[in-house]
Formats: sequence, structure tokens, C-alpha cells
Amino acid sequence: MSVDRFDRWAGRYERSPLQRLIFEPVHRVMLEVAASEVPEAAAILDVGCGTGRLLRGAGDVFPNARLEGVDAAGEMVRQAQALLPADSRLRVQQAVAERLPFADGSFDLVFSTMTFHHWADQRRGVAEVARLLRPEGRWLLADFVATGLMRYVRRAFRLRRFPEMRELERVLRAVGLGVASRRPVAGVGSQVPVLVIRRL
Ligand SMILES: C[S@@+](CC[C@H](N)C(=O)[O-])C[C@H]1O[C@@H](n2cnc3c(N)ncnc32)[C@H](O)[C@@H]1O
Repeated sequence: MSVDRFDRWAGRYERSPLQRLIFEPVHRVMLEVAASEVPEAAAILDVGCGTGRLLRGAGDVFPNARLEGVDAAGEMVRQAQALLPADSRLRVQQAVAERLPFADGSFDLVFSTMTFHHWADQRRGVAEVARLLRPEGRWLLADFVATGLMRYVRRAFRLRRFPEMRELERVLRAVGLGVASRRPVAGVGSQVPVLVIRRL
């Protein structure tokens, strides 16, 4: 889906039925995993943050953390900013995963939910996340990752943007990252796990 379509979707995004079906359950697991993996996170980034719903939730779980969000779609960013309370610690700006406007080693925790399969250059995005992660940091990635029979469906329909697990692990290894564990998201299905990614 092109960024233009996200611009058009932005105003209705938080009222979409997909929130209840996919995004809310994914965000819930994401925040549980974040709290157990990096309970003292001081700096958190959401790459492809959309309207910032997950970041707002992270603000409650991590009351002292610095919270940043980026999204490629300008309208998503405007919606996210409009939904923030006036005194919010959250900052959202327009930027792409492939070129993140932060210094090396800036974050303990990076989130990406249901955005990875939209990235124009996934290898470059992965390298950018690796650059920003602190040594003990975690990248929590939730997206469609084809396993089992779905690998054949993916190949048959040439759905190349949805990675297969082995292929994703190869891309991660090339920049010194690896999948430490995966958590299923109840109700959404085994093809959309939350992957806990860390330095090898
Ligand atoms: C399905 S939405 C998910 C938004 C949010 N993560 C959530 O869970 O509600 C996908 C988002 O990824 C963004 N996106 C697509 N390509 C991107 C890229 N290369 N870099 C950053 N964001 C991107 C889109 O603009 C869109 O807001």
C-alpha cells in the first residue's frame, strides 16, 4: 500500500474495524512484551507509528521514558500530533524507516507494528533500526511473517514484502541482530507474531 493511501486513510484510521480485529490485540501484546523485556526503557521509538496509538499506550507503561514516533505519511503524523494531549512527552515527526533522523544508539526499545511489509527498502530499514539500538536494546517487530503452509501461498502470489522467517533472520544477522523469541497474538493468528529482536 502506498504512502498516499495512508494519507487518505489517516482521518478515519482510529475508527477502522481493523483496530479491534488486529491493531489493538497486537498493541496489547507489544506493550506486555516491552514491559517484561526492557522494564527500565528510557528512550522508545515507534517506526511507522501511524496515528500514535501504541505510543500513547507506551506513555502509560513507561511514565519516565522519552517517546518518539516517525511515520512516512504526513497525514498520519498530523493525526498523531492532533491526538496528543497539550503537555505530552511524545514527539511525532515525518520520516521513513530507511532514513531515521536520530543519532546512533539512541533507543532502548524500538517498536514496529504492521508497517514492515510496507517499507520500500526493508534491508535498509533493518540496518537503520540496528544503528539506533543501544547494546541491550530490543526491537519488537509485529507483522505478517510467513511460516508453514503460508510460505507457499506467499511464493505463489509473489507477496515478497511479507518475509519468511528464515529470510528475515538472514537480513537481521547481516547487521548483527537476531530473533530472541516470538510471542503469538491471540485472535490474530500465528502468522502475525511479536518478534523480540536483539543484538547477537
Ligand atoms: C497499517 S499502518 C500501522 C500503523 C501503526 N504502526 C499501528 O500499529 O497502528 C502502516 C504505517 O506504516 C507507515 N509506513 C509505510 N512505509 C513506511 C516507511 N518506509 N517508513 C515509515 N513508515 C512507513 C504508513 O504510513 C502507515 O502509517
